[in-house]
Amino acid sequence: MRFLTFKGGDEMPALGLGTWKSAPGEVGAAIKEAIKIGYRHIDCASVYGNEAEIGAALADVFAEGNITRDDLWITSKLWCNRHGREDVVPAIQASIDDLGVEYLDLYLVHWPVAIRSGAEPPTEPGDLVSLEELPLEETWAGMEEALELGLARHIGVSNYSAKKLGQHLSMEHPPELDQVEMHPYLAQPDLLKYGQEHGIHLTAYSPLGSGDRPDSMKGKDEKALLDDPVVNAVAARLSITPAQVLLAWALGRGTSVIPKSVNPNRLAENFAAAEIELDAQAMSDLAALDDHRRYVTGNFWAKPGSPYTVAGLWDE
Ligand code: A2P
Repeated sequence: MRFLTFKGGDEMPALGLGTWKSAPGEVGAAIKEAIKIGYRHIDCASVYGNEAEIGAALADVFAEGNITRDDLWITSKLWCNRHGREDVVPAIQASIDDLGVEYLDLYLVHWPVAIRSGAEPPTEPGDLVSLEELPLEETWAGMEEALELGLARHIGVSNYSAKKLGQHLSMEHPPELDQVEMHPYLAQPDLLKYGQEHGIHLTAYSPLGSGDRPDSMKGKDEKALLDDPVVNAVAARLSITPAQVLLAWALGRGTSVIPKSVNPNRLAENFAAAEIELDAQAMSDLAALDDHRRYVTGNFWAKPGSPYTVAGLWDE
């Protein structure tokens, strides 16, 4: 297993289990199976709506006595309707309570987007608050309080551009990690370099192309990453699976990666990718696929009447 090392020497297992889209009724069994296979990093978020079930599964695992809380790395994320400075600590406490743990290893600001305090999903454009009105720095001050209280051992962000990361570098505790969509179609070499230069780790989400996204988040003529001919050719040449190609690609670039699965065979297949190193030929074949294509475009934040635009979201 590879690790990413944080301040103070804490080590995050580079390959974690994603839980976005893991349905209630399925996620608990997936967590137990994953931990049995050897996963020690679980990526959660309050907005996924499944933290209580994950917490119940973790309680069962801890009760068996082989795995303790400290053996695991648990991440969760602050939803956009808790961006006010004073809303952050109660929000992380709610995730901690749902997950049935005492602390999180990592807590992330889920999106650089603010929703009016307390407005519950589904979000209407009128619920959105501009970043001029509720600046990210204010949210971050709440994140720093969560850190100082020991509720989170590390704090970071998600879906932030290099420009938005830059806004935080002079804060007392700058973000230690940015979780972003990243795969061979969206390799983001500049963001990767920015992170390396500023000591900010990256976690790659949607590493398999998130084919199980809701239809409302899908484009018309989308290419499925797992079906890509180059990915499949690399897989055939190296006698591994296309998913393993994609995960080994991410790990080989020094990022963390959080494939989602609720299927025991695929959980094991994905976990085994942590031991695979792609050769230079494979890395260069895959590098040629980068056409800056997002599956998660963020267009749901930019509906008519919203203060956000897709271009402004990614600073592109
Ligand atoms: P399932 O949960 O049934 O295994 P992402 O991590 O990019 O969001 O992708 C998750 C999607 O990829 C889910 O539909 C998941 O289905 C599927 N998936 C996970 N692992 C594999 C794999 N090894 N091979 C093919 N599909 C996979």
